[in-house]
Amino acid sequence: VTDLVAVVVTALALAACGGCDEPRHTAAVVDAATAAPVSVLRCSECHEKMYKEWRTSAHAASTTSPLYRAMLQQVPSAAVCDGCHAPLASRVAPADPPAAHGVACDVCHSLRAVEPARAGAQLVLLVDDNVKFGPLCDAKDNYFHRTACSPLHTTAKLCGGCHLWYWGELPVFTEYEEWSAGPWAAEGVTCQQCHMPATAAEAAAGSGVRAKVRNHSFFGDKPDFRKRALKARVSVASAGGRVKVEIALRNERAGHAVPSGLPERRLLVKVVALDATGVTIDHAERSYGRRLVDAAGAPAPFFRAAKVASDDRIAPRETRSETLDLKTPPAGALQITVSWQAIDPAIARLVAVEKPEEIVLLEGKIAIKGKTFTPKVLELGR
Ligand code: HEC
Ligand code: HEC
Ligand code: HEC
Ligand code: HEC
Ligand code: HEC
Repeated sequence: VTDLVAVVVTALALAACGGCDEPRHTAAVVDAATAAPVSVLRCSECHEKMYKEWRTSAHAASTTSPLYRAMLQQVPSAAVCDGCHAPLASRVAPADPPAAHGVACDVCHSLRAVEPARAGAQLVLLVDDNVKFGPLCDAKDNYFHRTACSPLHTTAKLCGGCHLWYWGELPVFTEYEEWSAGPWAAEGVTCQQCHMPATAAEAAAGSGVRAKVRNHSFFGDKPDFRKRALKARVSVASAGGRVKVEIALRNERAGHAVPSGLPERRLLVKVVALDATGVTIDHAERSYGRRLVDAAGAPAPFFRAAKVASDDRIAPRETRSETLDLKTPPAGALQITVSWQAIDPAIARLVAVEKPEEIVLLEGKIAIKGKTFTPKVLELGR
């Protein structure tokens, strides 16, 4: 590996931050420009498996996701966001594929060094040397690229370069920090072990099967992955002509708090009381998340927020109990759902997102007969 001639892509400050410190974004430090990064399609010629998986991932949609595009309309400068969403954008013409490809192969596999930091890490990208850094220490160079054994790629630090970011004092992306402080890091379980499960496969076409090759979909092609995180125990009892529903929600299998990622994400617990014909007679709900507000205390997207109003996300292996109180259906059922919301409906309106994604993670039904009934318990989740 030749010496690194670094060009620092300087951090841009954002003007519209209500009273908070000026944020920095993750700055890409790249080698001097002589050749442009290549399209991911070139990589797919020999790494079709990784390409097909990556294409379904959020990383591949990091510049095109409708939610991201909507927020970009409201930020004064997209360059702050590009630092992580399109780290190669400053290196190539806007129309060049690698810019639009966002968190592409060459972002992670040109990454030579990174030190996660709240203010935003520096990604040291070595693009022009045509060395692909990866976990394989016995891989040979080929006519298309050289290879380099990189222990960094098997550590959570690699992910922490982008999955940790504060906007001044305001926490925005904290997966890395929560993981570091939590039980999974203590047990040696990395981000990769959960998000990039390994199977026997060829790392490149014709290079022979290896016992452990990592999945690159980051759960893009496995919508059920989100459902693994939670378990719930629902206890129902009658009290004074009403029904009390206690929901104990446990973060069983996420390496960080749930909901994680974007601070606008929510977990919604909903109980609906139905009569014998299926008509709703009452409902109650509770949502969990990190609530950011502006200087006046009104809900705001992170880039206009001034402080954290509350944070009741569920930490790894934590159990949170909530009791909801409803009218008792004389004969009927209680329907319980726990859903993931891509963005709080109140904030969706502020950033003009019409139908934010909602995924049901857990659901169940408890039949009820009579105003008073014997307490019942329902277990949800694997
Ligand atoms: C978000 C970062 C990231 C992106 C994007 C990414 N990779 Fe990887 N890749 C990794 C990590 C991390 C590993 C090693 C994981 C480990 O061993 O713990 C890896 C491993 C590999 C390996 C070695 C074989 C294996 O699975 O261990 C190859 C080859 C590879 N990636 C190719 C690609 C190609 C081609 C693309 C684009 C289609 C791509 N990667 C996109 C992070 C990434
Ligand atoms: C001409 C075929 C070919 C093309 C095109 C190609 N690779 Fe590879 N790549 C290989 C071979 C062969 C290996 C070694 C596989 C092995 O040893 O099992 C490899 C290994 C790798 C590794 C593992 C390095 C290590 O030491 O862990 C990474 C990462 C990688 N390639 C990324 C890329 C990326 C990114 C692109 C697109 C910019 C790309 N490759 C394009 C053939 C190719
Ligand atoms: C260069 C910055 C960068 C690096 C490095 C990076 N990520 Fe990401 N990651 C992102 C961005 C940006 C998104 C959000 C994309 C979007 O939805 O717009 C994301 C999204 C994700 C998601 C959400 C998946 C989904 O379907 O919603 C997971 C999981 C994830 N990353 C895991 C990882 C892991 C594990 C690593 C380390 C192996 C890693 N990331 C490395 C920038 C990065
Ligand atoms: C013990 C397994 C495990 C570990 C370790 C783990 N995760 Fe996760 N992660 C999950 C599960 C399960 C989910 C789905 C739950 C959810 O929706 O938050 C998830 C969700 C995510 C999301 C999606 C956020 C969203 O809502 O779009 C991101 C981003 C993410 N993880 C990044 C990371 C990073 C970065 C690390 C390492 C610092 C990591 N994870 C470590 C299991 C894990
Ligand atoms: C330090 C790196 C970093 C910077 C800078 C950054 N992001 Fe992100 N962004 C991420 C990561 C990591 C995720 C994945 C978390 C998740 O999926 O919830 C993400 C996810 C998102 C999502 C969710 C996308 C989806 O489809 O659900 C939106 C929206 C978003 N970012 C907007 C922005 C905006 C707007 C900016 C600029 C003001 C920005 N981000 C700057 C790292 C960054």
